[in-house]
Amino acid sequence: MKEVENQVILERAQNWVQEKLKHDSSGHDWWHIERVRRMAVRLARISGANLFICELAALLHDIVDDKLFPDQPTAYQELRSWFIEENIPEDIDAHVIEIISTLSFKGGNNLKMRTLEGQVVQDADRLDALGAIGAARTFAYSGWKGQAIYDPTIIFRSSMTKEQYRNEKSTAINHFYEKLLRLRELMNTEAARKIAEGRHKFMEDFLMRFDLEWQGTDE
Ligand code: ADP
Ligand code: NI
Repeated sequence: MKEVENQVILERAQNWVQEKLKHDSSGHDWWHIERVRRMAVRLARISGANLFICELAALLHDIVDDKLFPDQPTAYQELRSWFIEENIPEDIDAHVIEIISTLSFKGGNNLKMRTLEGQVVQDADRLDALGAIGAARTFAYSGWKGQAIYDPTIIFRSSMTKEQYRNEKSTAINHFYEKLLRLRELMNTEAARKIAEGRHKFMEDFLMRFDLEWQGTDE
């Protein structure tokens, strides 16, 4: 019975999120959510985390993101109303809100996620920022934000506050050095670390190739 109820909640969450993100062109569209959900379920199975919490938090993880929904009080209010409408038990509701309000990178100054479920969903979201898909999302996001592909006069930042991370001028290529290449070391679970390895290597090869073509020294 519980299984069926959980399935219904997940389907309703999917419909709601699909509706909210249907016009997204910043790399946070529905298919990003779907990949994160699939990866969260895979990592949850391996690490013994609660599957329902991981899947629900993965589905809802970008619904209160301040880049996409700058009116934060309204975004949280809508989420709380959704939980009430769906009759989600309070302990689940509190756990999911805790996960999705603390998972974002925001310059790399965050504390470790408190629960295994939070660690799993954060890993799944971070894995979608790596590899071929991570690269594609970064160029899409940069176009959306009005940033250049690359500009050698804008230097890489090695550490930054959340405000600097969001507001200072950067480029898509800078983002690889400022965030993406640092994520491999930040994975919480062993399973995610292994997957991150291959994706990290792909990005290093990509950046080497990008540099060769930029210099015009490729054969
Ligand atoms: P956060 O906003 O906390 O970095 P997100 O997971 O929402 O985390 O970012 C998702 C993806 O959006 C990044 O992995 C990257 O592809 C893209 N992105 C976010 N910020 C930037 C940026 N400043 N420049 C280029 N791409 C970015
Ligand atoms: Ni995300």
